[in-house]
Amino acid sequence: MIEPPLDAPRSESEIAKAVGPTITASGLGGREALRLFGEELAPSCISTDHPRYLSFIPCAPTEASTLFDLVVGASSIYGGTWLEGAGAVHAENEALRWLASLAGLPDQAGGVFVPGGTIGNLSALVTARDVARRQRRQDGTLPARWAVAGTDHAHSSIVAAAEVMDVDFIGVPVNEQGRLTGRALQVAIDESGHDGVFAVVATAGTTNLGIIDELESVAQVCQDKGLWFHVDGAYGLAALAAPRMRGRFAGVERADSFVVDPHKWLFAPFDCCALVYRDPAQARMAHTQRAGYLDVVTGNADHNPSDYAIGLTRRARGLPFWFSLAVHGTEAYAAAIERTLEVCRFAAQQIREREYTELLHEPDLSVVAFRRHGWRPEQYAAWSQQLLDEGIALVVPTTHQGETVTRFAIVNPQTTENDISLILDTMS
Ligand SMILES: Cc1ncc(COP(=O)(O)O)c(C=O)c1O
Repeated sequence: MIEPPLDAPRSESEIAKAVGPTITASGLGGREALRLFGEELAPSCISTDHPRYLSFIPCAPTEASTLFDLVVGASSIYGGTWLEGAGAVHAENEALRWLASLAGLPDQAGGVFVPGGTIGNLSALVTARDVARRQRRQDGTLPARWAVAGTDHAHSSIVAAAEVMDVDFIGVPVNEQGRLTGRALQVAIDESGHDGVFAVVATAGTTNLGIIDELESVAQVCQDKGLWFHVDGAYGLAALAAPRMRGRFAGVERADSFVVDPHKWLFAPFDCCALVYRDPAQARMAHTQRAGYLDVVTGNADHNPSDYAIGLTRRARGLPFWFSLAVHGTEAYAAAIERTLEVCRFAAQQIREREYTELLHEPDLSVVAFRRHGWRPEQYAAWSQQLLDEGIALVVPTTHQGETVTRFAIVNPQTTENDISLILDTMS
């Protein structure tokens, strides 16, 4: 495998100067437009699959998935309905079924591939509220306001979803290990006095620290209180692919819905989030768009992917993931996840051993967050910028409980122990 160049952004004016006007009356022609892209635009985009791109959550697609993304793009396949895309939808559903079975959901579980965890979380919560609304309308107990409960470690997309839906967010404190627990959830909901709580979001792998909430006890509270249990595993649930890791997610099998992004730790290209429902019929009721011109597709029992999330027209974005899974087999996925975990353990060990670094949290998964003793925020920023300027790595600062620290998110099996040592050496 050839290491991609890391590359780096340039300012808007630098790019404009280098590229010149690109939208012209007579067109640049294919060769020139491609030259500009290859020589000027693409090098101003950081390669998220570089082995030392360890920030945010990287993307590390297999060659098979990347190549198949080209096929999907070139095939004019419409992935929104069974009528138009039956073969593609069948393949996507195979991949969704594999994920649902890893999580221990029943055979009828299913859903759709959406662009990312943000849309996946929002779509799941829209379904959850729709279910609650139908029920409470029937019971004659519709609340004045709806609410979703989660922690402030939950991904920012959860609060964003609550805002888009105009529902309240009940913040539940995490325990000393940073986890949402059933006990704290119960107390927070009871103390809020809110009569419109309809869903709870647990995170299976927080973005900043990679922490897995206590899914089992949270599931129990949801069951006791009749609440929708959504698991945001956009990053972390990928580890279900490694049999040794499954025990860590005990309780996920009780989820009403979950998301996991193949474009994060399942080696597929952007943009691909698997949104899976225990009972897809509920999502269908919430999301099916109705119009005369759509009657031909909505008036039958076909599996139309657009019926399970926000959005109508859709690219069959699950296909690159499906193709790669079909090519390599699930054992290769287990091995690739295990390799990233091995490098993560090495990173944690190095951080423990070096006297100038300290772990913030023993990694649950493959995020290693740590502090460099004695550094102020400006020093983290300068160090990070220098790594990028020198084409070495993208490792940006983050904050945890008000403190500036940094983190490695390791999802790329091409990232090696040497890459980690190289970066840590630059902090000495
Ligand atoms: C736990 C979690 N949930 C949701 C998201 C949002 O996913 P996306 O960026 O694909 O919309 C992320 C992104 O990093 C995440 O880590």
